Amino acid sequence: AAENGLDGWLRYAPLPSADSYHDGIPSKIVALNDTKISPVYTAGQELQQGISGIFGKELDVQYDDCTSFSSIVVGTVEEYSNGGGETDDIPELEADGFYLSVDGDSVKILGQNERGALYGAFEYLSLLAQGNTSEFSYASNPSAPIRWINQWDNLVSGGTHGSVERGYGGPSIFYKDGYIKEDQTRAAQYARLLASIGVNAVVVNNVNANASFLTEANMDGLKRIADVFRPYGVQLGLSLFFASPKDLGGLDTFDPLDESVVEWWHDVTDKLYRRIPDMAGYLVKANSEGQPGPFTYNRTLADAANLFAKTVKPYGGVCMFRAFVYDHTTLNQTLDWKADRANAAVEFFKELDGQFMDNVVVQIKYGPIDFQVREPVSPLFANLLETNTAIELQITQEYLGQQAHVVYLPPLWKTILDFDLRVEGQPSLTREIVSGARFKRPLGGYAGVANVGTNTTWLGSHLAMSNLYAYGRLAWDPTHSSERLVQDWTRLTFGLDSSVVDTITQLSLESWPAYENYTGNLGIQTLTDILFGHYGPNPASQDGNPWGQWTRADNDSIGMDRTVWNGTGFAGQYPAEVAAMYEDIETTPDDLLLWFHHVPYTQRLKSGKTVIQHFYDAHYAGSATAQTFVSLWESLKGKIDDQRYEEQLFRLKYQAGHSLVWRDAVNGFYHSLSGIADEKGRVGNY
Ligand code: GCU
Repeated sequence: AAENGLDGWLRYAPLPSADSYHDGIPSKIVALNDTKISPVYTAGQELQQGISGIFGKELDVQYDDCTSFSSIVVGTVEEYSNGGGETDDIPELEADGFYLSVDGDSVKILGQNERGALYGAFEYLSLLAQGNTSEFSYASNPSAPIRWINQWDNLVSGGTHGSVERGYGGPSIFYKDGYIKEDQTRAAQYARLLASIGVNAVVVNNVNANASFLTEANMDGLKRIADVFRPYGVQLGLSLFFASPKDLGGLDTFDPLDESVVEWWHDVTDKLYRRIPDMAGYLVKANSEGQPGPFTYNRTLADAANLFAKTVKPYGGVCMFRAFVYDHTTLNQTLDWKADRANAAVEFFKELDGQFMDNVVVQIKYGPIDFQVREPVSPLFANLLETNTAIELQITQEYLGQQAHVVYLPPLWKTILDFDLRVEGQPSLTREIVSGARFKRPLGGYAGVANVGTNTTWLGSHLAMSNLYAYGRLAWDPTHSSERLVQDWTRLTFGLDSSVVDTITQLSLESWPAYENYTGNLGIQTLTDILFGHYGPNPASQDGNPWGQWTRADNDSIGMDRTVWNGTGFAGQYPAEVAAMYEDIETTPDDLLLWFHHVPYTQRLKSGKTVIQHFYDAHYAGSATAQTFVSLWESLKGKIDDQRYEEQLFRLKYQAGHSLVWRDAVNGFYHSLSGIADEKGRVGNY
């Protein structure tokens, strides 16, 4: 395995003093399914490769005899019991769950289904690779059935954002020059990484979709991708372009209730499932940011979602329907104090609660705007009580430094997942809403926008991969701590040296607070350039833009007034207790103050500082922290391989410099706008 990053956290590097473990390792692997496309077969191969790498011990894989001694048995509970295995001790498992037992040199890895068996094998290997060879037995079940990745890949290269929209790891791994590649080796390698963290589906094309995916030739191409995903238990999903019946099908309408349109979509779906019988389903972005949708025909978003849900229903598929719906053409900042893009999702979806079929999942971005450095949780999670929901997280760092900055995201995600929305006055953690538990929904879960590319590091930066790793682990179990996840990832990616683990953990955990400090604080949004590319500081672009991402900063005051009594009313979209907290400036936490309130720059925070002084200080503090990342990393010289050391060092030096640019641009901007001097005399006009 090269150190360039293709294997990510699945390097199976030799354990220090690997030989000493030889006696404890079973002497063969028994995989209970010998069909090559079966995840159980894959598990057998993976165990063989892993144990060879970690311990230098070569084991045979056999395909029967699950009761023999000194073996690692991997398969489904059913296969195991059919083969004469004793299953009395095995707890009840949920779909994709597994039971893992290590008892001397007898190891059992039994999945509720084939995929679960593979997940169990990866978990076992992860423990071994981290030097854990103790005895234990436990069952593990996923928190939610939907644990998907979204790739925003375009079939055609070029365009504004290259061939992967908001992708910073190079062009698409799936497509080239308008075609679906013949060679899908990278797709298989990707599926392997994803299976190891419990991800069970990938939507392979951009939400800003293109009808040409539905030609016969491209459906054949999609089948090629699905075929290489299948041995890893990863299902393929597809984003749809809503106007396809007209654009591609030659109909004169794309009205979701028109019979010819309905028939057209059924026909397309049948053709896809003939090629990909286990297709996961569809993802739809409609009536947002210029995308066509049902409003053209006065139909509802539920009419649209249900159309697709019906077509995939006989195949067990689901329709993920995005709640990222807003009409930017009607937002007018100057004329309308109450205009607020953040209101859109609840306004569009609340009244549709209960109208979606049970295989529709409404996919909701974590915050009401758009993947900002800090947002409150989307109130839509608290407004859909009879609808399946999934949370959309962004692994690709669109607004968060685009992988040129290290920003370890789980701490951000957990502020959202652990937030208690208090629906009907009852505990209602976001993670318990999306798991389906809170409102007793049959489906729900996670969608992570990853946007990996052909770069050998996948995301364009070695350290960014901890976000992908942690995403899958959190979708499986959102109660994992951010610290533990980065420690696991570091050991698997860079080795067991505790100074390496401690250093990367420290750097990672400090990275999001630092980034927030040197970009946009107090809930003002990221303050990045909003018009071109979402990169680098541009606080001036945060007002007057047509996208509804505003700060309403003027010479005296700043912040969006989202109160009910005087503002956009957004705070009132939350259940009573949460609404009351955000309505009142006294009970609004400082880190969301400017999200909810419009205040003078001289407003005092709970810390006693004024808003403007907090801006100045935070930008100095955050950029100072970024400087320390360089020396922290330099302490790892010689403790990790030179290639990854140098590549990451280059990026951290860049981040340190860019954080100063951020500091001075943002501080200078608000200094000249407000005319208020920095108490410490550091800030000038720029
Ligand atoms: C962001 C992003 C777009 C993307 C959109 C979406 O606005 O910048 O590129 O299409 O989100 O999630 O649909």
